[in-house]
Amino acid sequence: MADRSRIVISDEEIALQDDYARRVLEIQDSRMGHTRTYFIRTYGCQMNEHDSEQLAGYLVDMGYSATDDISKADLIVFNTCCVRDGAEQKVYGHLGVLKRYMAQNPNLIICVCGCMMQQEEAAKTVRARYPHVRVIFGTHNLYKFPQLVYESITGNRRIFELEDNPEGHIAKSPPVVRESGIVAYTTIMYGCNNFCSYCIVPYVRGRERSRDIEDIMRELYSLKESGAKEVMLLGQNVNSYGKDIQGASFADLIKKVDEVGIDRVRFMTSHPKDLSDEVLDVMAGSKHIAHHLHLPVQSGSNRVLEAMNRHYTVDKYLGIIERAKKLMPDIGITTDIIVGFPGETEKEYEETLDLIRTVGYDSAFTFKYSPRKGTPAASMPDQISEEEKTRRITKLIKVQDEITFRIHESLVGTTQKVLTLGKSKHDEGALSGKLERGITINFDGSDALIGEFADVKITKAKHNTLYGAVIDN
Ligand code: 5AD
Ligand code: SF4
Repeated sequence: MADRSRIVISDEEIALQDDYARRVLEIQDSRMGHTRTYFIRTYGCQMNEHDSEQLAGYLVDMGYSATDDISKADLIVFNTCCVRDGAEQKVYGHLGVLKRYMAQNPNLIICVCGCMMQQEEAAKTVRARYPHVRVIFGTHNLYKFPQLVYESITGNRRIFELEDNPEGHIAKSPPVVRESGIVAYTTIMYGCNNFCSYCIVPYVRGRERSRDIEDIMRELYSLKESGAKEVMLLGQNVNSYGKDIQGASFADLIKKVDEVGIDRVRFMTSHPKDLSDEVLDVMAGSKHIAHHLHLPVQSGSNRVLEAMNRHYTVDKYLGIIERAKKLMPDIGITTDIIVGFPGETEKEYEETLDLIRTVGYDSAFTFKYSPRKGTPAASMPDQISEEEKTRRITKLIKVQDEITFRIHESLVGTTQKVLTLGKSKHDEGALSGKLERGITINFDGSDALIGEFADVKITKAKHNTLYGAVIDN
């Protein structure tokens, strides 16, 4: 069992960071007549999104306010992702553009943080090629953000905080500025121990660390109090919750979370090797745990799954799906799939197509395999060409689109409980919301419904959305 005192950030450290935040605030106050603004750009997954909410929390404590206009910001943060090469290249491109803002505002503080900065080589590249970046720090150092900003403002030097600590740290209850008052993220665990052979995450996010159940519950009760309607429990592998602490498993946790009374609770990401029968039983018997399971399968071939170090077979995966559907016939299942893993044959790829047809996913996140330096798969023989990966993913998307459409069509005529999230971005005048199983729906209704649940009759299915009308009770 890990030594928690080394993992959980001490009260002294929290007080120290509070003090740095206060000092930055004092400096801001003394610069009369100008409110300092910040802009955060987030790359990658929900964990990163939530880390950015934490960064925003620290910035507000330091007297900054948010701006939507990056060119006007006094402090810019890029919270980076390195799960695929495309994400990294995007960061480099966007960093180059920032140079001209520096020319307009010499006091501008540009910070780069997140997973990419946990990689020595990427951090070195940013340091050498982008001298306008003033602060660089990794995911393990996020809790020190107030100190780094203070040092940047007061010292005339660039700041690099890249301590490599695979055990990581947990901030008990850091300040958070939430993107939405309707749907909130809550981290329940950090890091990953799985080392899937293609994946960089365990190297940059460190080992699995569960957050203490009391901290989680406190946060959830306070979210309920402030009117949140949906919460997403976050972790790279949520089903491992509790393995590093005594007392509670993931099934125990969601049972307790259900009692909080937040209307809808989702969780991601689940790993098929760790998803217990008990978790499905709790979901089925709960009041508030949404009948939605994001269960990445990655491949439909047993050989590829083994080479990926996933520790399950197609049969075991299908067994989970079958049980989930039996317990919850209305469940929505979504997944992640990688095509073009080294050595993946045409036949093995076809097995993935067969599997998605068998499962009937509501939707799938599909990726072309991207070699990540330092991971076992990057040096495996028989790497697949970019062209071939493109061909495979194009067909995969097409097959999945047809499945999605069929599921959407099967829902036409039914009435569903929809959480209204806001105005539709694509359909002028319409509202947009989510079904319990996670599918997006656009429907006509008054703005007063935003943040509320509505009974919506589904009238039309399109490939990526549903359309409906509110039923008057
Ligand atoms: N290449 C392509 N996709 C990847 N993923 C993780 N690592 C890679 C990689 N090297 C995908 C997996 C995972 C999702 C978050 O990203 O499908 O579930
Ligand atoms: Fe990466 Fe596998 Fe961990 Fe997911 S479970 S973060 S794919 S190593």
